[in-house]
Amino acid sequence: MQERVSDSAPIPPRATTRREADRVWRALFRRQLARLPGRMCAAFLDGFRAAALEPDRLPRHADLSRRLADRCGWRIETVPGLIPVRDFFALLRERRFPSPVWIRGASSLGYTPEPDAFHDLFGHVPQLAEPRFAGLLESLAARAEGAGERELAELERVYWFTIEFGLVRDDGAGVRAMGAGLASSLLELDRALVSREVRRLPFELVDARTRGFETDRPQETYLVAPSLGELARSLAEDWAPWQPGAGAGTLSRLDRRWSSAP
Ligand SMILES: [Fe+2]
Repeated sequence: MQERVSDSAPIPPRATTRREADRVWRALFRRQLARLPGRMCAAFLDGFRAAALEPDRLPRHADLSRRLADRCGWRIETVPGLIPVRDFFALLRERRFPSPVWIRGASSLGYTPEPDAFHDLFGHVPQLAEPRFAGLLESLAARAEGAGERELAELERVYWFTIEFGLVRDDGAGVRAMGAGLASSLLELDRALVSREVRRLPFELVDARTRGFETDRPQETYLVAPSLGELARSLAEDWAPWQPGAGAGTLSRLDRRWSSAP
């Protein structure tokens, strides 16, 4: 069982030199790469191939942005860490994905209480490089424009249960992971797919909008989209008005996440 990380937990060390950062990236990349086939969905694997991330050294944002811009119009926006949800979606509307340059230290490969460069680049860049995923991001980001606090909280939950920790039925292959938080986490990837301790429920937009989620420990519930196409359709067409009295949100920050691996 995994240990829990909370806001009061000590901040684990970050890599302090370029050499250490590259070493950490290399170790995490190799470890997670071997886990992707058979676990991540076909679209993520397509995006991963298209992204052509460097296996041996932590990608520089400028280099990565140049490649992404040529391919799909996205670039990486360097930020110090977590940013407000409204700002996050505003960046996405400009096809800028926020990421810090720091990566966890070599002494704490197993987890980081905040998303680091490994999570963002290994987990999200393949999504940016794949039009079906990028379309989902753009759809959520567009809806966030001018949204009130309540709708913003709903969007955050939907993002969480799809882009971060979503599962999806892959044609003929069964349930696979689609979320960046799963792609970059060895333990939670298997937990999401095979553990009997968690629930896997069909994705319903009305449910995802109101469902609480875990920010400091592995998820207890995962939502399974019928397909990326159906998910895109649902995000475009099923956004029924808020139902008064539905569950209230408690999370105020996007992307606070568990990232664990032995
Ligand atoms: Fe993330």
